[in-house]
Amino acid sequence: MPSRLVVLVSGAGTNLEALLEACEQAGYGAEVVAVGADRDGIEGLERARRRDVPTFVVPLADFATRESWDDALAAAVAAHEPDLVVLAGFMKLVGPAFLARFGGRTLNTHPALSPAFPGMHGPRDALEYGVKVTGATLFVVDAGVDTGAIVAQTVVPVEDDDTTASLHERIKHAERAMLVDTVGRMAREGFRLDGRRVRLGG
Ligand code: GAR
Repeated sequence: MPSRLVVLVSGAGTNLEALLEACEQAGYGAEVVAVGADRDGIEGLERARRRDVPTFVVPLADFATRESWDDALAAAVAAHEPDLVVLAGFMKLVGPAFLARFGGRTLNTHPALSPAFPGMHGPRDALEYGVKVTGATLFVVDAGVDTGAIVAQTVVPVEDDDTTASLHERIKHAERAMLVDTVGRMAREGFRLDGRRVRLGG
C-alpha cells in the first residue's frame, strides 16, 4: 500500500505539484490523499483541485484562539488518516495538539541550510548575510521554528547578482527534487529517529 500523504500549503504550491507528479509514477510508494491550507484562493489548492485531490481550508482567523485553530487543523488532517504530513510552503507553525497527533511524522521544507537562517525569510537572510552557498532543508517538525531533526539538505550557490527572488527560485528548483526524492524513500524504505539523527531504511 502506498503511504498516505496529507500536504499543507499556503501559497504557490510548486513543491506540492512536484509531489503530485511523483505520486503518479508507478512504484513511487506514496499518494497525496488530501491537501490542506490556512487560506483559500491560493494556487496550491487549485493544483490539488485540478487533480481531484480532496482539499480543506482551516483559517486561523476563524478561531478565537491559536489552540482551537491548532485542534481544528489536527482534526482536519486526521480525517484523512495520513501516514506522513508534509508542510510544503505552509506559513504557520503547528502547535501542541497537532504535534501530539502527528509529531515524528510531520515533515517541513525550509529554504535555507539549517541551522542557519530559520524563520520566514531564509533566502533574504542568507543573501544579506553574504553566504556563498545556501539551499534547502527537509526536517521532522518539532515545537521550535525550523529546529527539527534534519532528514535531507540540498546546496545551491549564491551568485553575485542574485536578488532574493532569483536566489529563492534556484533554491526551490533544488528543493523540489530533494523533497520528491526523500519523501519517496521515506515512504518506500521507512525511517527512524535516533535522537537528532534521522536514518532512512527503518
Ligand atoms: C518553499 O521554498 C518553502 O521552502 C518555503 O516556501 C516556499 C514554498 O514554495 N517555506 C517556508 O519558507 C516555510 N518557512 P511553493 O509554495 O511553491 O511550494
